[in-house]
Amino acid sequence: MLLPSRWPAVLQAVMKGQPRALADSHYPQWHPAPVTGLMNDPNGFIFFAGRYHLFYQWNPLGCDHRYKCWGHWSSADLVCWAHEPMALMPDEEYDRNGCYSGSAVDNNGVLTLCYTGNVKFDDGGRTAWQCLAVENEDGSFTKRGPVLPLPEGYTGHVRDPKVWKHEGTWYMVLGAQDLQKRGKVLLFASDDLHRWHSCGEIAGHGINGLAQAGYMWECPDLFALDGTHVLICCPQGLAREPHRYLNTYPAVWMSGAFDYQAASFSHGELHELDAGFEFYAPQTTLAEDGRRILIGWMGVPDGEEMLQPTRARGWLHQMTCPRELRYRDGKLWQTPARELEQLRESEHQWRGHASAAPVLDATRLEFELSAPFVNVDFAGALRLCLDDGGLRLERASLQTGETLTRYWRGEVHRLRILCDRSSVEIFINNGEGVMSSRYFPDHPARVRFEGASDITLRYWSLRGCMIE
Ligand code: FRU
Repeated sequence: MLLPSRWPAVLQAVMKGQPRALADSHYPQWHPAPVTGLMNDPNGFIFFAGRYHLFYQWNPLGCDHRYKCWGHWSSADLVCWAHEPMALMPDEEYDRNGCYSGSAVDNNGVLTLCYTGNVKFDDGGRTAWQCLAVENEDGSFTKRGPVLPLPEGYTGHVRDPKVWKHEGTWYMVLGAQDLQKRGKVLLFASDDLHRWHSCGEIAGHGINGLAQAGYMWECPDLFALDGTHVLICCPQGLAREPHRYLNTYPAVWMSGAFDYQAASFSHGELHELDAGFEFYAPQTTLAEDGRRILIGWMGVPDGEEMLQPTRARGWLHQMTCPRELRYRDGKLWQTPARELEQLRESEHQWRGHASAAPVLDATRLEFELSAPFVNVDFAGALRLCLDDGGLRLERASLQTGETLTRYWRGEVHRLRILCDRSSVEIFINNGEGVMSSRYFPDHPARVRFEGASDITLRYWSLRGCMIE
């Protein structure tokens, strides 16, 4: 260990911070969130030795994007999570400015982390190393050091290794920026996770006819799904459009044919993965039974994140719920992982005129609405409105107070909405679209239905399931 240990400071931060965070009425009761400090990307999501492991970008020392460690939770069922020993701290020269995002693999029974060591220089320059760490018997991790330096032809923005094995060979996709400052996804291959060779660029500016595709692509994830291949990633610098790409940075998916021999991915258009206000840097893994499960960060960098009121309580951000992915009719469908149904308490049904509908407690709630629809008001702090083109989600800017809007365009038949204190996840038409958003209501927060039509409503209060 080259750099001075920050363990005492981390321990103090957790001891002081956790009680304050848990006492905050906005602290989630069934979504994973940091016990103190700032959490961002899900990392190292894997089903290994009978449990799910979810690591996360975590600055325990403050609500800012400095000092990125890897926190670690595990779960038997994707519903209840347990704290595991913190996995990585930036304590080596090669990761001194952050143990940045990455993935986990099962290397012959050894849980192995692949992450980016981020290094910034005094002159403003930076570099990045792709690094390994292996799990010890006591659940701690030992770093194995860098295995891939910055590839030639790219700036210091090369990061977020997602590694998987295919027919005996390891593959890695990396987010990158080329020297002309254009976003790319790079592919590497290896026999042993240590020696990697470049297979070239598989997506980004100038590939598959993509022009103006932004200056940096972060957090790529490439996987086979229902007879196709899907690439998920986060292109920074995509132009805003009237109804999409309205957040500072979006998360997108594209599907097509991936050819391992030719190391090429011929894909179709980009689609926004989630149309809400907060969603970024998602990562997927395979469940034990083969389902492809996605978890995202319910936050977005560089927007209004630093104005969220939970910062005053010393914590910031939460994960989305785990979602099952399917590919059908040229679309990527997302539904809440079926395990989440375990959270449901008794079921209620209601049918009648919207104006007479029960007012629901939004603290921990799931509800379903079938057509025809009405507007849904979440504690006066977030509104979901149906219009001719689809859905509009509205809330006030934390900075200016003006109304901000996000859109999902298409015909709406059905809504399934999950609420947890300061978040809502809106699943449209059994997963054709999703809108994930944070909001900061006064509690107890109420959901009200407004409109002049009849509605059919099914709802459940959800039980809490805090990380233990
Ligand atoms: C995405 C990201 C990654 C990086 C990490 C740092 O949110 O910027 O590209 O590895 O966060 O925390």
